[in-house]
Amino acid sequence: MDVEILGRVLSTLPAEDDHPYRTGPWRPQHTEWRAEDLAVVGELPADLDGVYLRNTENPVHPALERYHPFDGDAMIHLVGFRDGKAFYRNRFVRTEGFLAEAEAGGPLWAGLAEKPSSAKRPDGWGARGRMKDASSTDVVVHAGVALTSFYQCGDLYRLDPLTLDTLGKADWHGRFPADRGVSAHTKVDEHTGELLFFNYGTDEPYLHYGVVDQRDHLVHYVDVPLPGPRLPHDMAFTENYAILNDCPMFWEPELIAKGVYAPKYHPELPLRLGVIPRRGGSDQVRWFEAAPTYVLHWVNAYEQGNEIVLDGFFQGDPMPTEGGPFRFLALDRMQTRLHRWRLDLDTGRCREERLTDSITEFGMINPGHGGRPYRYTYAATGKPGWFLFDGLVRHDLLTGSEQRYAFGEGVYGSETAMAPRVGATGEDDGYLVTITTDMNQDRSECLVFDARRVADGPVARVRLPERVSSGTHATWAPGASLPGWRS
Ligand SMILES: [Fe+2]
Repeated sequence: MDVEILGRVLSTLPAEDDHPYRTGPWRPQHTEWRAEDLAVVGELPADLDGVYLRNTENPVHPALERYHPFDGDAMIHLVGFRDGKAFYRNRFVRTEGFLAEAEAGGPLWAGLAEKPSSAKRPDGWGARGRMKDASSTDVVVHAGVALTSFYQCGDLYRLDPLTLDTLGKADWHGRFPADRGVSAHTKVDEHTGELLFFNYGTDEPYLHYGVVDQRDHLVHYVDVPLPGPRLPHDMAFTENYAILNDCPMFWEPELIAKGVYAPKYHPELPLRLGVIPRRGGSDQVRWFEAAPTYVLHWVNAYEQGNEIVLDGFFQGDPMPTEGGPFRFLALDRMQTRLHRWRLDLDTGRCREERLTDSITEFGMINPGHGGRPYRYTYAATGKPGWFLFDGLVRHDLLTGSEQRYAFGEGVYGSETAMAPRVGATGEDDGYLVTITTDMNQDRSECLVFDARRVADGPVARVRLPERVSSGTHATWAPGASLPGWRS
């Protein structure tokens, strides 16, 4: 293994930190590494070709008062696979907020668990305002560039997908909606090269939807009026439609007026699913009503006859009352189960069904099946009470069968991407890639599974130079989609 330290970022976190989401498996890293020819146990398949990218919330400074794990600064981890060998990089995303706090030597904006009025600076980002756009929620690759994003809307930061150098903010040839930003969970349609996105806020019309083409031009951007401010986190799409949502859990409007942003669940209201033609106008949104819940993540959607089939994770208890301040991060508290909504475009009705009793979330699919019929999803199980992934489940949505793999006591995985094999002939012909945080061995590995044989365990384990913090979202980009991959 050829290892080089590229740099260290100066942290002002307390030496004896005791925050549950800044210690243990969530201990942040402040060293940036470049490592080539990583040590491998097992054999890396030669037809695994591309990069696994993972975003993490990795704080450099303490909060002003109360830290929430979603406040952490973005650190991207890259494990690249080429010719049966693996390489690794990790870099902070140099956001405006990250650079300003580096200069100030401490926190400047109010985190999710803090009042906006406590921010030291009057400006800021987020649907709520006066937050730091940490860009630490999600990562996708569009038009050969990695884009990181923030769950409460902000800029999209452009990163070189091989070096992880921050290239600046997405501009979309001058048409980026900088006034509102863009939410995490932009969607890339591999078949068209388009990036679909939404943003939300506390001003009318409360929601917008847009499309960026494969040459990075904003080609569509429309209002999607809602009855009030909402907290959508994710969207879905099919070949011809985008699907937005109005979940009955949102900031209480009368408290917003007082500068307090407290989500409240309204079981008396339906979940509303908004279907809009991908290039449709505001007047073309059709709303379907379903049983109340909050959906954090959709898995996929596709068209079948006159219906749209939409899969995601139904929360049995969107507002748990017990389990401490971070109970909203624990899958067992939220009771997240894979669920199917069928939206009938002829009648306007919605039928729904639970697909499994298993509690999983963060479902990933073969990216070539995004918006198209599909059969398999690869999802995470959660350590009870914690935002930590203790295992992996392959759901077969045709037969209902499941294959499971547990990482083992004290070992946690990341959102697991599906990497189609070069020359793949079927939906599940490929590999699953995840990074572990191993508290027993104080190290991290990147695990590679045969997507068809999850229960057999990894076919290869790649040793990373340092223990990686837990985090949120990840993606896979095939080498063929990356400029300069072979040069
Ligand atoms: Fe998310």
